[in-house]
Amino acid sequence: MPTLLHIDSSPRSASVSTKLSAEFVEKWMEQHPDGRVIHHNTTLEKLPFIDESTLGAFFTPAEARSTEQKQQLALSDKLVDELIAADVLVFGVPMWNLGIPASLKAWIDLIVRAGRTFTYTANGVAPLLPAGKKAYVFTARGGSYPHDTPASAFDQQEPYLKTIFGFLGIQEITFIHAENQSRGGDASLAGVAKAEEEIAALAV
Ligand SMILES: Cc1cc2nc3c(=O)[nH]c(=O)nc-3n(C[C@H](O)[C@H](O)[C@H](O)COP(=O)(O)O)c2cc1C
Repeated sequence: MPTLLHIDSSPRSASVSTKLSAEFVEKWMEQHPDGRVIHHNTTLEKLPFIDESTLGAFFTPAEARSTEQKQQLALSDKLVDELIAADVLVFGVPMWNLGIPASLKAWIDLIVRAGRTFTYTANGVAPLLPAGKKAYVFTARGGSYPHDTPASAFDQQEPYLKTIFGFLGIQEITFIHAENQSRGGDASLAGVAKAEEEIAALAV
């Protein structure tokens, strides 16, 4: 049974990134009626930030962890298990202050785990996740940051997510951006329409 992990991060009921990620998931479910979808909204679920005791538990060898440390890692372990199980990863990401919401970064900090999702080797770090995962990232932005223009330097979403997912061995990533969402009127509608056309053209 194929598994899709669906992570949204906007708190807005009228969220464009959430709408686009949901449209993709619906399309995927049509193609994979036996598929399983695991969904989170990192902002609505108020994922915690890492504190000192969680860091201590991360860096204590599994066999030496206290009961309290195991409890401390329960959420991170669950999120990592979901990531390992997923064949397809889908993200809905609003652009906030040029980057991703802090709650999505909190999810990333909970799943980038030495010994679980990557490991240290003599030649540097190496991913531990099963190979072959595909990721789809649907962003919504107030402005426009086209590739190969000076404005693209302001986009701190796509380069960061590409790099951190690449670090985990996830190389096959499709980005679809709904731009101009703060311009209103036709410009905003055109940004969504273009993204929806790109979703319709995807083979899933
Ligand atoms: C706190 C906050 C910060 C934002 N920062 C940016 C930004 O840096 N650049 C930009 O183009 N749009 C920015 N916007 C506009 C949002 O990206 C836009 O409204 C988008 O539609 C939000 O995604 P959502 O519809 O999925 O919630 C910001 C919006 C908010 C609420």
